[in-house]
Amino acid sequence: MPSDLTPADPTPVLTLLNGFRASQVMFAAAELGLFDALAGGPKSVADLAKSLTLNADALERLLSACAMLGLLSLTDAGFANTPTATAYLTTASPNRLLGYVNYSNAVLWKLWDHLPDAVRDGGHQWKRVYGTDGPIFSQLFRTDADRREFVLGMHGYGLISSPVVANAVDLGHSRTFVDLGGATGHLAVAACRRWPNLAGVVFDLPEVIEQARELIGPTDVAGRIAMKAGDFFADELPPGDVYALGRILHDWAEAKIVKLLTRIHAALPSGGMVFVAEKVLHDDKTGPDWAVLQSLNMLLVTEGKERSLGEYAKLLEGVGFRDVTCHRTGAPLDVITAVKV
Ligand SMILES: C[S@@+](CC[C@H](N)C(=O)[O-])C[C@H]1O[C@@H](n2cnc3c(N)ncnc32)[C@H](O)[C@@H]1O
Repeated sequence: MPSDLTPADPTPVLTLLNGFRASQVMFAAAELGLFDALAGGPKSVADLAKSLTLNADALERLLSACAMLGLLSLTDAGFANTPTATAYLTTASPNRLLGYVNYSNAVLWKLWDHLPDAVRDGGHQWKRVYGTDGPIFSQLFRTDADRREFVLGMHGYGLISSPVVANAVDLGHSRTFVDLGGATGHLAVAACRRWPNLAGVVFDLPEVIEQARELIGPTDVAGRIAMKAGDFFADELPPGDVYALGRILHDWAEAKIVKLLTRIHAALPSGGMVFVAEKVLHDDKTGPDWAVLQSLNMLLVTEGKERSLGEYAKLLEGVGFRDVTCHRTGAPLDVITAVKV
């Protein structure tokens, strides 16, 4: 029994008191354009303060915090981006996560401020925070700029996980990989690269397909990937023998998931596969850490949540799928496959 003589470990509380401060250091540095300003090489505090019109003393504290967090290093020539910042926090990097960092700072941060309200209401907080109502993706894509940032954020994440996800399942005998809600096509691109037998189709809302063209066009497998605009709840699904759902099911409440899975089941030929890429919760739902926190993010932002394998299996088997199999990857996303018999 802890007492004042043998106190309990305060580390989790002390760490969490700093958690939001550390996130805000990265958000502020990205918003101020520090990582882009250092993309050409190290700079002194004075030079950076002058070129970005910032207060030099305050800037030095922010730069020091970035160095402490592993985003910058201090060299003889001044502060420099670390390889992590160069890869993920600069606009010119093909692997950038900057879109999601900016979106988290500008949009999600304010929603998370209302976590207690969300736990009281059991629902997302768009109306309370932004005064808006309507379909989830019209909220997420409130402006063209928000939509571009969000989609680029998905892309950055996707580039980390999709090569691993595409390798996790044997698609050597499949023909057409239809990525529903495929956004920028990173999963279809990774699948076509890994499996030369595959053709890909990226299906998403019209405004997202426009952005997908810009990112799929320059890839080495662009010639094998078609792009189609539509609504997966209402429009005819492009024909295929594998339907991928990458981070789609976690957006929706059960009734809509059942509707979508039922449509996919009807569209698949016998022997066809549904390929669900999500971070799967442990059975007791206390891990993995990313999925547990993402489930709260989904509460604040969407109609959905993260689920355990048992919950996905129930949904898939409920609409007629069989052979539900979980392929844990160690990457930010796992894969669950199921077959139409
Ligand atoms: C969370 S994002 C995931 C994107 C992508 N699969 C990935 O993993 O990066 C959800 C995607 O579903 C798309 N989407 C939402 N509602 C849709 C609908 N009714 N029909 C087609 N696509 C939709 C969004 O535009 C967005 O690209």
